[in-house]
Amino acid sequence: MTAKITAPLCRKLEKAARTAAQSSYSPYSKFRVGAAVLAGSGKIYSGTNVENASYGLCNCAERTAIFTAVAAGERTIQAVAVYTPTKMATAPCGACRQVINEFGPSALVISVCNSAERTATTLDRLLPAAFGPKDLRSPKKR
Ligand code: THU
Repeated sequence: MTAKITAPLCRKLEKAARTAAQSSYSPYSKFRVGAAVLAGSGKIYSGTNVENASYGLCNCAERTAIFTAVAAGERTIQAVAVYTPTKMATAPCGACRQVINEFGPSALVISVCNSAERTATTLDRLLPAAFGPKDLRSPKKR
């Protein structure tokens, strides 16, 4: 299902991202992030950052939300909203951009924060010339 991503739907996604941040497990950074993805089916999945005493194993909110959607059977992503506890809206980190690309190479990416600032762009603008599934598809074209 690929319906138009209306303004009310964007607000719903943003709200889900903000709510998800309340479950953040971030005792090390104390940076409570929330994310929500609008999957191909039209359902919304949310996630938060989950840190670990072995710092390199920390998982970002965006990836938690995406992996939750994929585990539920989704294979495409229409939009992602991320909330960070900052004054300025921040875009997803590089690792999350790569993971969004896997399922939504032209997904809408919305960032919201603790001020009225809000940004909206697309994944292909955040990660131009991405390496992705298309690069592995046909052995003859490699
Ligand atoms: N973090 C996210 O959840 N998403 C991002 O896009 C950037 C960073 C998390 C990871 C870590 O738990 C904390 O924020 C500080 O980097």
